[in-house]
Amino acid sequence: MRRPVSRRRTGRALRVTTLAALMTLLGSATAGPAIAAPAAGRSAWSATVRSLVSAMTLDEKLTFVSGTSDPKALGEAGYIPGVKRLGIPELRLTDGPAGVRVTAHATAMPAPVALASSFDEGLARAYGRVIGRDGRALGQDVLLAPMVNTIRVPYAGRNFETFSEDPLVSSRTVAAEVGGIQSQGLIATVKHYAENNQETDRGVFGPAVNVNVDEQTLHEIELPGFNAAVEAGAGAVMCSYNKVNGSYACENEQLLNSILKEQWGFRGWVMSDWGATHSAEAITKGLDQEMPGDAYGPIFTAYFKEPLRTALQDGKIPTSALDEAVARILGQMERFGLLKKQARPSRDAVGGARVAQTVAESGAVLLRNQHDALPLTGGAAKSIAVVGPTARTPLVGGGGSAHVIPESAKAPLDAIKARAGSGAQVGYSVGENLDGVPIPASALSPATPIDRTGGDKVPAGQSFSYSGTLTVPETGDYRLGLQTSGGSGTVTVDGKDVITAGGFFSGSLIPTTDGLTNAPVTLKLTAGRHTLAVKTTAPADAAQSVRLAWSTPQTVQADIATAAATAKKATTAVVFAYDEGTEGSDRSSLSLPGNQNELIAAVAKANPRTVVVLNTGSSVTMPWLDGTAAVLDMYYPGQEGAEATARLLFGDVDPSGKLTQTFPASEARTPVAGDPRRFPGVDLQEDYSEGIYVGYRWYDKQNVRPLFPFGHGLSYTTFSYHGLSVRPGRNGLEATFTVTNTGRRAGQEVAQLYLGAAPGVSQPQAVRSLAGFQKISLRPGESRRVRIDVSERRLSYWDSTSHRWTVGTGLRAVSVGSSSADLRLNTRVEVTR
Ligand code: BGC
Repeated sequence: MRRPVSRRRTGRALRVTTLAALMTLLGSATAGPAIAAPAAGRSAWSATVRSLVSAMTLDEKLTFVSGTSDPKALGEAGYIPGVKRLGIPELRLTDGPAGVRVTAHATAMPAPVALASSFDEGLARAYGRVIGRDGRALGQDVLLAPMVNTIRVPYAGRNFETFSEDPLVSSRTVAAEVGGIQSQGLIATVKHYAENNQETDRGVFGPAVNVNVDEQTLHEIELPGFNAAVEAGAGAVMCSYNKVNGSYACENEQLLNSILKEQWGFRGWVMSDWGATHSAEAITKGLDQEMPGDAYGPIFTAYFKEPLRTALQDGKIPTSALDEAVARILGQMERFGLLKKQARPSRDAVGGARVAQTVAESGAVLLRNQHDALPLTGGAAKSIAVVGPTARTPLVGGGGSAHVIPESAKAPLDAIKARAGSGAQVGYSVGENLDGVPIPASALSPATPIDRTGGDKVPAGQSFSYSGTLTVPETGDYRLGLQTSGGSGTVTVDGKDVITAGGFFSGSLIPTTDGLTNAPVTLKLTAGRHTLAVKTTAPADAAQSVRLAWSTPQTVQADIATAAATAKKATTAVVFAYDEGTEGSDRSSLSLPGNQNELIAAVAKANPRTVVVLNTGSSVTMPWLDGTAAVLDMYYPGQEGAEATARLLFGDVDPSGKLTQTFPASEARTPVAGDPRRFPGVDLQEDYSEGIYVGYRWYDKQNVRPLFPFGHGLSYTTFSYHGLSVRPGRNGLEATFTVTNTGRRAGQEVAQLYLGAAPGVSQPQAVRSLAGFQKISLRPGESRRVRIDVSERRLSYWDSTSHRWTVGTGLRAVSVGSSSADLRLNTRVEVTR
């Protein structure tokens, strides 16, 4: 029997008048998910695709499912030569999530996590459109983005490259971005399917970690983003390096054939992450294309060439599996008009820059603002001490395959100076000198400085070497930096290689002020002599500048003291702090790297009006927080980050981003603290034993107070909420409430709706989960009635017994507010079958 649905306000039951509509909708949800579209067989392909597949030879089909190198490469990651004889054009595949990663200039967008923090789907579409157009203009056909893996581990190196710890934020952002990318004719590839939530043991150059995850957690936390991308029409999916429940993601039948292709009805193709293919049989398990095939020769084994040919010839793999894979790729090429030669657009660098700036402004999160320290006005805007290396060298983006080369990127210091105007005093002190100073001859034996940056550069193709001793004046931490203009190099101290420069993942994201790539290491050295060897090789076609620099305990303290003294003289201090999130490694600590904690504490002590600007990719701990006046998280803000930062600091634009991940108060209290089986795994086994309690779901469940909760973000104005009403809506529930701008400035608020646990459910349930949000702009004093629809899916949980989405029944809390911990309006709704 179906019982009526009612809503309650503060415990008092109110009957909903239009029960029938809601009952029907909720009733239908019990039937489970959109059920299994049949796997598309050959007959489902268009006549063109069918005839091309039948005309292709075995060799042609094999080259189509296995990548190779582009003879006319622009630095893109992947290439399929096409079949000239049949008029099938080439296919070029490029990274990535923050813009087009080729050797040419492209728009360097803010990190995807900043985009997600804007909670603005219109901007996500615009972001996608910029990358889509850049990609087409730069000769590309497929974009290896967006990345939608869950932010599960605060340490994970690629958190900047993805969106959120919350599946709804991820889903809505990815769907909008995919729409934007593909509107320009570039095929989007959602990655990395699935559970690629860390870099440690991801399995590129060594064995892969196996993620043990239960069915409910998989469906409720990690998969919704991928599902949303598929529903938004993403043409391709990239499977990940890691294993999931015992099988490599790229040969995981459950993930690829059952969930992606059958349940979700995905019609595009699955490509492997680079080197993530492990067998020819993977083609029968749902993998359609091996990347890169042979591009990196000895590094990766190619399975979709000879091993696949042999397996086909021996009858171990049916030809229909290869035909299906080829048809899937051709099907998308046809859908995007790529089977014909197409005119390509030109880049719109100006339009791209405009969107990059808007996203940087809208995604920035104002974490703290004591006594309205920001925006800078009056005297506070006239006397400013700027501190920090990323104030003078912009940190545009994170590292690895998401790294983009923009035409230009201004230094925040210059933007602040320009905005403050000629009447203002803007001082600068680096505080943390990442360049260091060339190691003096007096500390070296032979006593020749390792500095070939002048007229004596290492000639093209030649090598440089130094072998001797380094004498350290006192015991302590020494940061050594091998600084080169290209090529490769190693530094060996006491017989141990401590720096290897020149690899894809080596080198700091922050070049030296004279433009060299800096490959640093911090070593604990005892006073006295240490053996030192430096070897470098210049690139074949250019001379190489080489320098070995260091920061000593003494120079570090002197830099901090100078910064504090500079700050003391100014009315306001603005400290730029950074971290270096990158593909390829996880952070070993949630602290800001180097001596930045000490630096910020010293500056804040010298000047209580200290504003910290974070150029960081994910959460960081802030032991200095109480001493500061304000903290503005700009993430990696892209090529227009300097302008955006200045405009936010001076209040030309209101901060309106909200955290898409919880910031922990300490490393001892995070969802993975103290349990190496949760992270980084033990013996290559990693248990997602926190289950669905990822991010704020864990903090709420464990009653742990974070530093900043999910959804948090301040504005320069204030908002009040009132008048919540919940009734049946088109797709589940419809909540309406009023938000008023109660301050004196125009601003934007992200109104968030959270749904409480379903008491009638025996499976794990979140205390509350985000079920809807809306970003609104309000003038001072203006009120707006906001409507948020809570879909049937949001009212459902994944039932591990029936293996389907099922509505969570019972009296459920509905809360609305400004963050997951600042819920202003509360009501309850009885949800029944
Ligand atoms: C990364 C992918 C990237 C690919 C191609 C891999 O190592 O994990 O995200 O798209 O390389 O560059």
